[in-house]
Amino acid sequence: MRAITLAPARDAHSGFVWRLRNAPAVRAASINTDRITKAEHDVWWELRTLENNLVLADLWIILDNGAHCGYVRLDNQRDANWTASVSIAISADHRGRGIATDVLRRLLPSRARTIGYLGLRATVRRDNPGSLIAFLKAGYRLQVSVDDTWVTLEQDMARRRP
Ligand SMILES: CC(C)(COP(=O)(O)OP(=O)(O)OC[C@H]1O[C@@H](n2cnc3c(N)ncnc32)[C@H](O)[C@@H]1OP(=O)(O)O)[C@@H](O)C(=O)NCCC(=O)NCCS
Repeated sequence: MRAITLAPARDAHSGFVWRLRNAPAVRAASINTDRITKAEHDVWWELRTLENNLVLADLWIILDNGAHCGYVRLDNQRDANWTASVSIAISADHRGRGIATDVLRRLLPSRARTIGYLGLRATVRRDNPGSLIAFLKAGYRLQVSVDDTWVTLEQDMARRRP
């Protein structure tokens, strides 16, 4: 039986996260589509690690029966509503098996609540059906949008039972 779990990212996961972030589909889905150099990634990783007290509490590695198959990240929006922005990426050979939907629906809300977030927000390209479907199936609601490229989906944590 398949078991999808989350593990807080540690230094040993840095290379995996860097490589997946540079995968073509992940770059295409990102606001910054540039390739991230290892030097840029290392600086980003170092800063995040310091901010998060050596364990990257808002970056998790997604495990499929213990094997690395993706990551999910929360970025503090620093708004009055305590909303975090969600980024998720699944390795190409694990896509289309319901893993993102499972993480977003079952595993992420309790992690976000533990940190203190009250809401979750995803900014997704209109031409990314896999991502849109995963967030919608996980209970996110589409927000009114006037942008031709991006849509915003939100999950109000107060509406969800813990
Ligand atoms: C988007 C992404 C995270 C989805 O992960 P995943 O584990 O493959 O998603 P799921 O298997 O849970 O699929 C979600 C739904 O989308 C559907 N789907 C996936 N890819 C699709 C595609 N290209 N076209 C249409 N539907 C698609 C699946 O069939 C599934 O629907 P179903 O449950 O009704 O069958 C993954 O494809 C990925 O990492 N892509 C690159 C990075 C990215 O886009 N991240 C999101 C940025 S916000």
